[in-house]
Amino acid sequence: MYAVDQRVSVSGYRSKMQDRLFVLLALVLQIGAGAEERELCFQNFKFGVATAAYQVEGAWNVSGKGESIWDRYTHERPDRIFDHQTGDVAADSYHLVEEDVRLLVDLGVQFYRFSISWPRILPSGFSNKINPDGVRYYNKLLDLLNQHNILPVVTMYHWDLPQTLQQLGGWTNPLIADHFVSYARVLFENFGPRVKTWLTFNEPLSFCQGGYGGIEAPGFGASGTDDYLCAHTVLRAHGMVFRMYDREFRKKQQGNVGITLDFSWPEPLTTSKNNQIAAEIFRQFSLGWFAHPIFSETGDYPPIMRKRIDYISKHQHFPRSRLPKFTPQEVEMIKGSADFLGFNHYTTYLVEKNYQPIPAQPSFDYDIGGIKTQKDDWPKSNSTWLKVVPWGFRKALNWVRKAYNNPPIIVTENGVSTRPGTQDLRRINYIEGYLKALHSAIYVDGCDVRGYTYWSLIDNFEWTRGFSERFGLYEVDYASPNKTRTKRLSAAYIAKVAKTRCLPQSWTT
Ligand code: NOJ
Repeated sequence: MYAVDQRVSVSGYRSKMQDRLFVLLALVLQIGAGAEERELCFQNFKFGVATAAYQVEGAWNVSGKGESIWDRYTHERPDRIFDHQTGDVAADSYHLVEEDVRLLVDLGVQFYRFSISWPRILPSGFSNKINPDGVRYYNKLLDLLNQHNILPVVTMYHWDLPQTLQQLGGWTNPLIADHFVSYARVLFENFGPRVKTWLTFNEPLSFCQGGYGGIEAPGFGASGTDDYLCAHTVLRAHGMVFRMYDREFRKKQQGNVGITLDFSWPEPLTTSKNNQIAAEIFRQFSLGWFAHPIFSETGDYPPIMRKRIDYISKHQHFPRSRLPKFTPQEVEMIKGSADFLGFNHYTTYLVEKNYQPIPAQPSFDYDIGGIKTQKDDWPKSNSTWLKVVPWGFRKALNWVRKAYNNPPIIVTENGVSTRPGTQDLRRINYIEGYLKALHSAIYVDGCDVRGYTYWSLIDNFEWTRGFSERFGLYEVDYASPNKTRTKRLSAAYIAKVAKTRCLPQSWTT
């Protein structure tokens, strides 16, 4: 969608000279306009909103859909989910798709980011049997978007692995990468003529760490081992899909393929050298784990990850490192395998060095070498992990700019949770603060960001937090039979931003 205007591949980034000229021009324009009354506008930029299949669709066993790991987990482990809720019905977007598109039209957004449910398209996980009703559903959504000139931004995998593949070990099994490629081929064949912006994966850091190293689905809790295996398969799968698109579809379909990575900004707790180093290691273990193999010049895992995990594994008497190794061919295949970076950002942490001795049990939290906290006086949201720290967004984007030669970025998620209710001034404040930080990152610092996505269009199933944390621009009344959507104040704010591409100078409701 973004890169299509002027095909951008990893090798086609803006040059350093162009960057400098760009920043200089932005500064001159700003001084000319006078900082105070300057209107903050975004040029050649698109605004959108996002959802994900399991979180909104419902219809978990309807019209031929297969079971996903979240269906299984919410049914078998209700104790792990707030209030024992499930995504069985969620916001029922499967049946209310016309209404959701009406909301998008009301917002005036230029794109809609949604995900496709793998088990809805391939109920058994394998591509030998395609579910026609699944294909029909997403075609209907694409038709509706097309009628209203709203571009689709499509995530192939947003955490809902077919349960059949979990039976084989899920993402810890290297063979799942081949099945993902077959699934992706079905998507390109069926939807590729109309979808020009693809994301292979959403937040592998969250689903590998939370799902294989923690207690989100499938809930294995094998931190420091299974999470690394998961990431290894995911990185290979991503690279393989990108190369397959190059070989089989790119010429005809002229789209772009990226990946969405999440990055909370790790700020050193103090200015001490040790804490600064700890924060940098934290960055490499969180974003760098996935971004270094794809976006760096050298490829492969960040050297500091390799060094630390090899060393700690040895001291824990493992015969080999817990961090798997890519072959030289795999390093080359994965390196450069993205037309753009999808970037999810919500919050900031303070990081200090962890001085504990090496524990007997492997754990990602120890490997990362730092301890994270947040400041009590940072404004809160309705999620314990999410504090409002707009300056962290600007720092995070700049770190990416410097580390990976200023790749084209689409912010694929940013948002905040509130309690139920439609008078969500806190959400407006959050969005305004983060958009100002984004504006500075682009127009003062020269970060190449092409679009912004608010998470989320509507309230939805927030994983193990159930329906207790609401991120929507529209409130969903889960108790009503037709899951009534009601506009929040923030919807009007986003509509204004999306339509004018500028931040309202004074916002009165
Ligand atoms: C990121 C995830 O992609 C999404 O599924 C989740 O709901 C939001 N963050 C909010 O936590």
